[in-house]
Amino acid sequence: MAILEVLKFPDARLREVSEPVTEFDQELKRLAQDMFETMYEENGIGLAAPQVGVLKRMLVIDCRPRDTKGRYTIEDLTELEQKVEQPLVIINPVIVDSKGKTTFDEGCLSVPSFFETVEREEFIELHYQNLDGEKKVIQTDGLLAIVIQHEMDHLEGTLFIDHLSLVKSNKIKNHIKKFGYPPKKKKGEESDPTDEEVEM
Ligand code: CO
Repeated sequence: MAILEVLKFPDARLREVSEPVTEFDQELKRLAQDMFETMYEENGIGLAAPQVGVLKRMLVIDCRPRDTKGRYTIEDLTELEQKVEQPLVIINPVIVDSKGKTTFDEGCLSVPSFFETVEREEFIELHYQNLDGEKKVIQTDGLLAIVIQHEMDHLEGTLFIDHLSLVKSNKIKNHIKKFGYPPKKKKGEESDPTDEEVEM
């Protein structure tokens, strides 16, 4: 197991389109483990392989809500979310159906400390493969549907800040290019895990 470096905007690798996974081998399982370890270390709720410099169509997600003591509060999930077992490894995902619109204040481990409201599909039906290459289907809404859409964007080289108005998007991009990112918070001064601001 290893903690991997999370690439940050404006790293050019975040703009690449990732390749489908064809080999469901030990190496892929190791990558998934390392991605989980990295995501938990960074307090993220989702991570896409291109964010750690691997241009493969794979995501890891664990967006189960937790209380201030770190205990999972499954009752806060929507009915559809509760039917999906997490943590989740999603490979070669395709959204085959969607309904409605929803908004959420999104953040991203590749654009740390910036949070902006993004509109997404409210309900999605997702077809994907698991680590053994088996075909799976998820129908969900809530935060899980939002995280899946955010992470799938990474596979196309798209970041959440690309979804904002041009003025807002350019303001953030120029600010980062000029000033970089604020220093990372030390352990202990991390924000409350129930805080609405989550990175993915
Ligand atoms: Co992200």
